[in-house]
Amino acid sequence: MTIKRSFLAFALAALLLAILIPCRTVHGDTQKAETIDELAARYDSTSCEECHEEEYAQWEKSAHARSMVGSGYGRTRATLKTLVTRGLMTWQYSGVKKPEDVKIKHLMGCAKCHLPQLAEATDEVAQEIVKAVWAKDNETLNKLNINCLICHQRNAITHKWVDGYPQKNAVYGTYDGEHDSEEQEVLKRSPNLSESIMCGQCHGLGPQFELEQPTQCATAYGSYLWAYIPEGGTQSCQDCHMKKFNKGHTMPAYRDLDMQDAAVDMDIDVSSYHWRKNKAEGVVPMALVKVALTNKTGHGIPDG
Ligand code: HEC
Ligand code: HEC
Ligand code: HEC
Ligand code: HEC
Ligand code: HEC
Repeated sequence: MTIKRSFLAFALAALLLAILIPCRTVHGDTQKAETIDELAARYDSTSCEECHEEEYAQWEKSAHARSMVGSGYGRTRATLKTLVTRGLMTWQYSGVKKPEDVKIKHLMGCAKCHLPQLAEATDEVAQEIVKAVWAKDNETLNKLNINCLICHQRNAITHKWVDGYPQKNAVYGTYDGEHDSEEQEVLKRSPNLSESIMCGQCHGLGPQFELEQPTQCATAYGSYLWAYIPEGGTQSCQDCHMKKFNKGHTMPAYRDLDMQDAAVDMDIDVSSYHWRKNKAEGVVPMALVKVALTNKTGHGIPDG
């Protein structure tokens, strides 16, 4: 009787683990989001604005706030369409013959960085995204982005087997404590938020060889780790992109005048001569211009 009961308990536990573990998302949720609205609600950060007005206003101006649309008319949105029409649909073994065939796995090569939470959605959401891309529907696409809860919760822990999985009732900052908000009443210290690896999660090392069809966009973190740091660089991404000009969550880059000025040292040396070129042309004026450009950023430029 006891043997039978403990065997049953064991079998039940094993079954539960087998069902739960493979479906587990970063939060430990087992349900996948079935619509764009459902996925947006899972990481709804609108409530943060009430108390963190400045960070919110800066973030709204950042590239992170429109990571599925991009700059200008919607450069990222347009490239997502190119991925489908000139990539997926032309590749014999991709499984995509028409836009209606696009599934989550086809978008993750880009979404891994442009929308990491897409991993927690069903193929119906992939179809909703494709429709919005075709309709140039920026409003719908902008519901999904890299917002407060992506950096301060979902992606705030990189080594989850060491530091645990992010909790839904917590925001992750620089210290432990209570948090004066209804839904996230706990404040926890994130082990990576102030480190360059935080940004390195999406700002690339090199080709994503873990995928069936590797692709790559950003590589800044690779040259940061393998060129800037070995050359004696000491600044973090946050030092240069958030703190240096005190522009915080706008995280400026080359479109920002202060950042442009900080990007390269330019040393120009000009000498002029009267040069005896040849018999026919005689003495002609000539200038020798020496230009030395030194990259002062923490990585190769341009990137992405
Ligand atoms: C009702 C007000 C309120 C709301 C809403 C709120 N916060 Fe906070 N938050 C605070 C206060 C106050 C602090 C300062 C720490 C404390 O509570 O003792 C704080 C601290 C933080 C910190 C830590 C900052 C640091 O220096 O490490 C982070 C990160 C943070 N909040 C993120 C968020 C995010 C993300 C949201 C939205 C999901 C949010 N907060 C919503 C009031 C709020
Ligand atoms: C390794 C992470 C990563 C992957 C994978 C990735 N991107 Fe990017 N992408 C970025 C980052 C980070 C930037 C912005 C920073 C930069 O310029 O490096 C960016 C910038 C862009 C830009 C320029 C945006 C603008 O507003 O000017 C486009 C367009 C773009 N990505 C499209 C794509 C598409 C389409 C895919 C998939 C085929 C993709 N990316 C895959 C991380 C990635
Ligand atoms: C792309 C990642 C990213 C996003 C998106 C993001 N944060 Fe942050 N946040 C950080 C980092 C990194 C720090 C600085 C940690 C440190 O001190 O080094 C930070 C710091 C903070 C702080 C501490 C005070 C400060 O301004 O330095 C608060 C509060 C905060 N964030 C709230 C928010 C809110 C609210 C949002 C959404 C509007 C948001 N963050 C979006 C990465 C992000
Ligand atoms: C979840 C992924 C993710 C994280 C984490 C992240 N980024 Fe980004 N970042 C992106 C993507 C994707 C873009 C480009 C969005 C677009 O334009 O389509 C971007 C854009 C940028 C840009 C603007 C580049 C331009 O073209 O103007 C800067 C600067 C930047 N990120 C810096 C940072 C820094 C610093 C951190 C860490 C504090 C960070 N990012 C964390 C994904 C991420
Ligand atoms: C020593 C300062 C410094 C460090 C460290 C640094 N950056 Fe930059 N970064 C800059 C400057 C300055 C620019 C503007 C370059 C320009 O004008 O083209 C820039 C440009 C960028 C861009 C835009 C790329 C482009 O095409 O010009 C991205 C994205 C970016 N940085 C992300 C990061 C990330 C992520 C890290 C950490 C892994 C990082 N940066 C570390 C100073 C720095």
